[in-house]
Amino acid sequence: MSSPRVENLLAQMTTAEKVGQLTQYFYFQVDEVEEHLARGGVGSVLFVTDPAVLNRLQKQALEGSRHQIPLLVGFDVIHGLRTIFPVPIALAASWDTDLIERAQTVAAREARAVGIHWAFAPMVDIARDPRWGRMIEGAGEDPLLGGDVAAAQVRGLQGAQLGDSDRVVAGPKHFAGYGAALGGRDYDEADISDQEFYNVYLEPFRAAVDAGAGNIMAAYMDLNGVPATGNRWLLTDILREHLGFEGFVVSDANSARDLWTHHFARDLADAGVRAINAGLDLEMAIHDPAFGHLEAAVENGLVTIERIDESVRRLLTVKEQLGLFENVFVDEAVAAQVLADPAHREVAREAAARSAVLLRNEDGALPLDADALSKVAVIGHLADSPRDTLGPWVFDYDLDETVTILDGLRARFEGRAEVTYAVGAALPERTYESMFEEMGQGTSGPPRGLTEPIDAPAELDRAVAHASEADVAIVVLGERQDMIGEGASRASLELPGDQLRLLQEVVATGTPTVLVLMNGRPLDIVWATENVPAILDVWYPGTQGGAAVADLLLGDAVPAGKLPFTWPRSVGQVPIHHAVTRSHDPSKQWRRYWDEESTPLFPFGHGLSYATFEHSRIAVDRASVGRDESVTVSVDVTNTSSVDGVEVAQLYLHQRHGTSSRPMRQLKGYRRIAVAAGATERVTFEVGPAQRRYWSAATRDWVVDASTFDVYVGGSAAAELATEFTVTD
Ligand code: NOJ
Repeated sequence: MSSPRVENLLAQMTTAEKVGQLTQYFYFQVDEVEEHLARGGVGSVLFVTDPAVLNRLQKQALEGSRHQIPLLVGFDVIHGLRTIFPVPIALAASWDTDLIERAQTVAAREARAVGIHWAFAPMVDIARDPRWGRMIEGAGEDPLLGGDVAAAQVRGLQGAQLGDSDRVVAGPKHFAGYGAALGGRDYDEADISDQEFYNVYLEPFRAAVDAGAGNIMAAYMDLNGVPATGNRWLLTDILREHLGFEGFVVSDANSARDLWTHHFARDLADAGVRAINAGLDLEMAIHDPAFGHLEAAVENGLVTIERIDESVRRLLTVKEQLGLFENVFVDEAVAAQVLADPAHREVAREAAARSAVLLRNEDGALPLDADALSKVAVIGHLADSPRDTLGPWVFDYDLDETVTILDGLRARFEGRAEVTYAVGAALPERTYESMFEEMGQGTSGPPRGLTEPIDAPAELDRAVAHASEADVAIVVLGERQDMIGEGASRASLELPGDQLRLLQEVVATGTPTVLVLMNGRPLDIVWATENVPAILDVWYPGTQGGAAVADLLLGDAVPAGKLPFTWPRSVGQVPIHHAVTRSHDPSKQWRRYWDEESTPLFPFGHGLSYATFEHSRIAVDRASVGRDESVTVSVDVTNTSSVDGVEVAQLYLHQRHGTSSRPMRQLKGYRRIAVAAGATERVTFEVGPAQRRYWSAATRDWVVDASTFDVYVGGSAAAELATEFTVTD
């Protein structure tokens, strides 16, 4: 039930005023938006971050509306506003939900200070096909990790309850199944079986809703033939009834209008009717909203006024919960202070260090021994490109304060060793226009100080000469930040441009080589895994990225990240993930590809450290339990090295028989624990009905089977340490 203020407003508003509240405009067509504002026809705006402009817009909204209703301001605060954190897939690789919550708390504080009330985050779409560029925005392939990361982000953005000061509304997106885009092509249809929908794609949304998310964004694409934004089953039966969501639902940009484009709605007016009747509350529009026809639709009896009121009530309620009716203006001087807070940069540096994944480290190639080095060759475009260091989906960043990997290493070796730099190979330019450049995301810049295109053969020679003369070559390769993200799918996972050749020639010099990867999806690095002793994946590490990478390379920080996805050998293996069923006799040779292994390059959950860990003494407290009961699995984690470290012990479950056939391994628990050099820690996991429950297509319902379960615990999905227990009727 809503408040007297909200009910009072509703009682006084005309249908046109109500529909205005259900419309959100991008602040691109400034004149158009301001004209609507003057008539009280806007409920929300997006894409403004300047506190002065936001104060002005709020003033216009209050003056333009008979009822003095303030604007709700939304923005894509995805991995930071001014302080940029590592990209979301990187944060997920930390498996550290406390860190993720802290990062989003900082992002929320900066956003709220400038007058933003709502973040279009987290993206909780499961991604199992790295051709899809938006994999970078999510938490990877797994519903359990994805759900935990989603909930942590919601807590960080929103605080303990919606309306907490210095926090914003969280908007998990894109509901639902967007990550299953056909062929990994962004926006393409998703065809998802019911069992995959319930067991995989819906789970992170369930976690986000349970964590109290105030908003959900509907997806763009067709889900099983019905566009998500006009899908009543999805937006009402599943979201409201099954998940119990009580907040407001926004469309994706123009996705209500797109119901017409999808050849689903007859015309724009029909698009608006079908979207609101499906359960959409707020239309995100670039211009000419479909909801512009709702007033007529109410008059014609196509939409009830009760349905409109329900949505307006949700929007007014969130404005009230945020305290916007009391004070909607921000103090620009305070905003500037908050954005500059050095404590925020500390969290960013910690996050970058904790997100990195050490993929390979032969013979202790890393960490580098700083005292033994007098010349260090840093090579690669990405090593000194501030814009790329930040990754996609950031707008309000400050390139001047961004620490590139070259900056980080130069600062570290200052007065101790000479650090040289060569670009080595150019990265290919985008061959099509990106809307994000217009939106202010900025292009992937050239490396600092490079104003002319490089002369490729000469630059390659220069890089090789630097490597030959150095004690170590640190080669930073990957994708430009604008090759990944929204609208940036790839048909190949190869290192773009001549980067592989550059790496091969550097390695051929015989100088010890470290490969540092900047990426948001797995890339084809088979050659590197056979020829380069140390590979550290630092993703797009953010504002403090270079400082953190220097900490990691020199051993002042110890890598502990783990892959949140399965890393394929080549693009032909995708989609790929760890939780597959057996479905054929594994001894048969023909179960594999003719020209490729069926195993991945790195399993889900893989990640090394400078410490080494052993898992042992696995035990279950009871060999047999009833359906409603739990077992406790315990295991020793021993740090067998002389370095303190952090291990993420992972528990995988396999059910041997049941109502459905079940995956050979499924992540069902994990513990991130610090283990001192030489020490042993015993960790425990609860495996109860919640971990064993799944949706079966055989009964079309949730089941908890009586069965025998194999349990594996270790440092990745390839864990070998095993035990079992039985669940009886
Ligand atoms: C489109 C994207 O799909 C969505 O994630 C984003 O929040 C909106 N545009 C607003 O920028």
